[in-house]
Amino acid sequence: MLLGLDISTTGAKAILINQDGDVIGSSTHTYPLSTPKPLWSEQDPEDWWQATQDSIGEVIDASGVDPKNILGIGLTGQMHGLVILDIVDQVLRPAILWNDQRTDAACETLVEKVGLKNLIQTTGNPAMTGFTAPKLIWVQENEPELFQRVKHILLPKDYIRHKLSGVHAIDCADASGTSLFDITHREWSQDILKSLEIHPDWLPTVFEGTQITGTVSQQGATATNLTAGTPIIGGGGDQAAQAVGVGAVEPGIVALTVGTSGVIFAPTSEPHIDPQGVLHAMCHSLPPSQGQGWHLMGVMLSAAGSLRWFRDTFAPQHDYTKLLEPAAQVPPGSEGVIFLPYLTGERTPYPDPFARGSFIGLTIRHTMDHLTRSVLEGVAYGFRDILSLVKQTGLEDIHQIRISGGGSQSPLWRQILTDVLNVEMVTVNTTEGACYGAALLAGVGTGVWNSTKEACRATVKTLSATQPQKENVSIYDSYYQDYHALYPQLKETFKSLSTKIE
Ligand code: XUL
Repeated sequence: MLLGLDISTTGAKAILINQDGDVIGSSTHTYPLSTPKPLWSEQDPEDWWQATQDSIGEVIDASGVDPKNILGIGLTGQMHGLVILDIVDQVLRPAILWNDQRTDAACETLVEKVGLKNLIQTTGNPAMTGFTAPKLIWVQENEPELFQRVKHILLPKDYIRHKLSGVHAIDCADASGTSLFDITHREWSQDILKSLEIHPDWLPTVFEGTQITGTVSQQGATATNLTAGTPIIGGGGDQAAQAVGVGAVEPGIVALTVGTSGVIFAPTSEPHIDPQGVLHAMCHSLPPSQGQGWHLMGVMLSAAGSLRWFRDTFAPQHDYTKLLEPAAQVPPGSEGVIFLPYLTGERTPYPDPFARGSFIGLTIRHTMDHLTRSVLEGVAYGFRDILSLVKQTGLEDIHQIRISGGGSQSPLWRQILTDVLNVEMVTVNTTEGACYGAALLAGVGTGVWNSTKEACRATVKTLSATQPQKENVSIYDSYYQDYHALYPQLKETFKSLSTKIE
């Protein structure tokens, strides 16, 4: 039996899987998110710990599994969040989360102190408001008395690791989202730490995602009913663990997630650092010795979120099936309507908080169904923007996309995505996402499987496969060129519009 734990933005989830990969039980307990000021996003690490204890307790009780039979624990969770502890491991302030936007000025400080080229070359990414280092700089600049007391820096899931084992540790994949990590050498960048006056001792020890980082302590066992001595494996940030959970651990297999946001995750056998830093380059949660030690990632901010907005705004009386059914009758290209999905700004390929959603090409001929279909197509074009960038880094041979997330349930959307991206798209049997990936990593770390690839091949099975339809591929090819030309033409208008509203 293996235990996966996911400390997500909404709740702590615990799943138990057996050595065949079957899910034996699952439990989630939620916690609140607080926004004490506009743009701020915080959570209390104590809430994560309470919810983790509740979920572990419930999954063990409901499944009747004897904790002694749990071979290992794998951790995943929301990336980039900052938890700071003092000398006696007390939390100094609420955690600052990945979606917090207070750090604009801190990003400038980061670039000033480290240099943009050096930052991208070393960490694989430019300064991003959501990443960890700018949050620490913000504390240094705005809460200096707290900064004086910092003795440990942890990411959300690693705070839980610490509560369970007493160890301060992290895996390479999650460390890649801190802006402090040298992704090529898979270690903290001493240069960057020095430039930012961050003491190296404050940072957790780095492990691979498949390595054992420690074991459940007596205290952790008392709090959770787990057995003291149970190994805890590195795991990974939610995107890397999600990729493991759908089997994106081999060359040519890419994971695509159509959740509120949309993610393309492409494993690579070496770091593919984009000199402009448009795509995220990071470590994967498997070590280089297992083949795909790194990955490229692009994130669009409103994928299924665009469809939810559209439904809620224009057809709140419809469920998604009712909304999408007639859109299937509209010809590919929606007879000339193009939707731009930048409803919450954009991250990849345009890191632009001012980008806005749009319908272009409307005539009086167009109906609700055209608009619905154009939303599905616009999101697919956004994914194509990301996939094109991935291919431009030299990763040409992408033969299969594994699709997951709420949007993947629609056969129409899957066909549109397949035709726009022109690659076979498959769904998989595993539905527990990142938490499942964390449990598989725990299995690799404890010797149930010899490698992550072996774990995924043994447990992740492909279900439906959608093939590109030739005639649609060429129609979409032509519409995509128009889509791609729109943002540069509208960029200044978006900016100007945003200055007119508070
Ligand atoms: C990845 C990212 C999100 C968060 C929250 O870069 O920002 O996936 O980890 O889920």
